[in-house]
Amino acid sequence: MTAQPRVLSGIQPTAGSFQLGNYLGAVRHWVDLQETHDAFYCVVDLHSITVEQKPDELRRNTLLAYAQLLAAGVDPHRSTLFVQSHVPEHTQLGWVMQCITGYGEASRMTQFKDKSARGGADHSSVGLFTYPILQAADILVYQADGVPVGEDQRQHLELTRDLAQRFNSRYGATFTVPKPLIVSDTAKILDLQDPTAKMSKSLPNGAVFLLDDPKVITKRIKSAVTDSETEVRFDPATKPGVSNLLTVLAALTGREPAVVAADYDGRGYGALKADAAEAVVGFAAPYAASVAELVGDPAELQRTMRVGADKARAVAAVTVATAYERLGLVDLG
Ligand code: TYM
Repeated sequence: MTAQPRVLSGIQPTAGSFQLGNYLGAVRHWVDLQETHDAFYCVVDLHSITVEQKPDELRRNTLLAYAQLLAAGVDPHRSTLFVQSHVPEHTQLGWVMQCITGYGEASRMTQFKDKSARGGADHSSVGLFTYPILQAADILVYQADGVPVGEDQRQHLELTRDLAQRFNSRYGATFTVPKPLIVSDTAKILDLQDPTAKMSKSLPNGAVFLLDDPKVITKRIKSAVTDSETEVRFDPATKPGVSNLLTVLAALTGREPAVVAADYDGRGYGALKADAAEAVVGFAAPYAASVAELVGDPAELQRTMRVGADKARAVAAVTVATAYERLGLVDLG
């Protein structure tokens, strides 16, 4: 049997609930990729602490994030599903990667610029600055071939590829150079209140949180900003709000947005919003029920986490040992 290509991806447990963009842009594809790939998926709790977290909330949100991945369809028997801080090799390789990253190179990461601009650069941690380098280590430590993510992660993946190539050319072929797997249709779900921005946990007013009450979800979608016309047409450049709703509805019903648009000929935005809300709630309600059941048994979640961590460590430890050896760090024999 030939080995399946490997994928790795991660998600932060920062908010209690994933937002719709996380699911449509990433997690849904993770579930599909289990069929064809050797899949590694992690809750990246160490990334979340780059901004201050309340310890009890972080603990709870990490359990919730792990449960959400299970509820969305990540199968821990087929995939390696784990929590980043349970695998210390991520931070070990993270340090190695920091040492081959240029300061200027790290300074060009736009997500850091955006996040630090919001909070003020003086209040940003060094961890927030080096965050993309830890992300590179997350990927490289598993020798991943592909990384399924939304569009906002593209620059981080370019850095990852650069670091892998740099290490390989300095110290000999060590790391697989990974490719981004970005499914363009849903790679950037937009904010419902400001359809020029991506939907994000950090802009809660325009986000749909999947664990919210169905009434809240419906209200959010029904009050989405559209435009002053009445025609439902898939045209992301001039009608971003309407096109975003079509993208969501199409993704959840397995159709193409332009085909979905034809259903609303002469029916206006109200009908589209109602159907989009129904489709999202149709997914979110059973998902939330499943998450509630899973977090009701934290001991079982921990058991599953341990199995995932053991499987992940078995792979990650080999990569770190090889990288250390290539670097000239002395081993104990
Ligand atoms: P995070 O936690 O912000 O988001 C998780 C995934 O959701 C995608 N996503 C979106 N996709 C479409 N439309 C949106 N509005 C939207 N919002 C979020 C993200 O692109 C991502 O795929 N740095 C990463 C976490 C990470 C990681 C990794 C990812 C850490 N290590 C290694 C891949 C590989 C992040 O903050 O994702």
